Amino acid sequence: MERIAVLTTGGDAPGMNAAIRGVVRTAVAEGLQIFGIEEGYHGLLHNMFKPMDAASVGGIINKGGTILRTVRCADFHDPKVRKIAYDYLTDSKIDGLISIGGDGSRKGLYTITKETGIPSVFIPASIDNDVYGTDYTIGYDTAVNVGLEAIDKIRDTAASHERIFIVEVMGREHGFLALEIGLTGGAEAILIPEFMKDLDISSVARALNTGIKRGKNSSIVVMAEGVGHSADYAKKIEKATGMETRYSVLGYIQRGGSPTAFSRKLGLTYGYSAVMNLKKMKKGESKMVGFSGGNYICVDLKPIINREKKVDSYLYNMNKILSI
Ligand code: F6P
Repeated sequence: MERIAVLTTGGDAPGMNAAIRGVVRTAVAEGLQIFGIEEGYHGLLHNMFKPMDAASVGGIINKGGTILRTVRCADFHDPKVRKIAYDYLTDSKIDGLISIGGDGSRKGLYTITKETGIPSVFIPASIDNDVYGTDYTIGYDTAVNVGLEAIDKIRDTAASHERIFIVEVMGREHGFLALEIGLTGGAEAILIPEFMKDLDISSVARALNTGIKRGKNSSIVVMAEGVGHSADYAKKIEKATGMETRYSVLGYIQRGGSPTAFSRKLGLTYGYSAVMNLKKMKKGESKMVGFSGGNYICVDLKPIINREKKVDSYLYNMNKILSI
């Protein structure tokens, strides 16, 4: 293997730059030529390759976002369009590929290897933490801490005004982020798409009223965006509890900012490990680096590509006890 390329795809996540640094500096140290593909799979379709060296990743370890930029590229689902990308990969003589992104990005990378034989390694990075096969994605820890900081501030107003607050966090399909923020922020209720039966207002109100009866003068409800609109929930909860209820949508604030130490360390280690594994891989092989059960891992993508990660119901149920 002589020439490899790296790209970032899907939603940006804090720590992606640390991962790019890990990939580029390791590639240089291993004597490989390294190219960055700007704007993810969209850039691959438009020949946006640029040579990188150790200096091109200087001063980025502490920066959120991605210096390679990212685009959600629906066109890549079309085999005719993918063929264009494959021609550019051949022209640039790329013999190994690394993609940094979320679950959709992983499927894209797996398809590239399946259709071209170019060996690839996937680096999981998403604030949602919804990638099967790894306990942690790059950026998740930073987003959790941004959410926590927001809750700690909102709590001051909630307590001073004796209000219920709904805090809406990101997570269109999954509640990993909401569960972690809610649990560690001491939320009285956590609403996530995985536990639909708990989403009806009467059961949320029952939980909140238990606290109110024992003297709580304020409460925090954390909800994932995939559950619905926090404004609607606020109105319904106010009606059901009789307590003034407000809402706050954290939105894209959670995706940006300087990565935490943990997000940086994952980025650097996943980046390093991706290159060290890639250079030993054969044609047709596709793998993922990650962290599982306390160890850094590198596993075959094939058996896990269609598996869905599940939220930890143990933690979810534990919060119901601890939040009373
Ligand atoms: O990166 C994941 C995520 O933040 C989801 O939680 C969210 O629903 C989605 O991206 C929104 O992303 P965009 O608006 O960039 O498509």
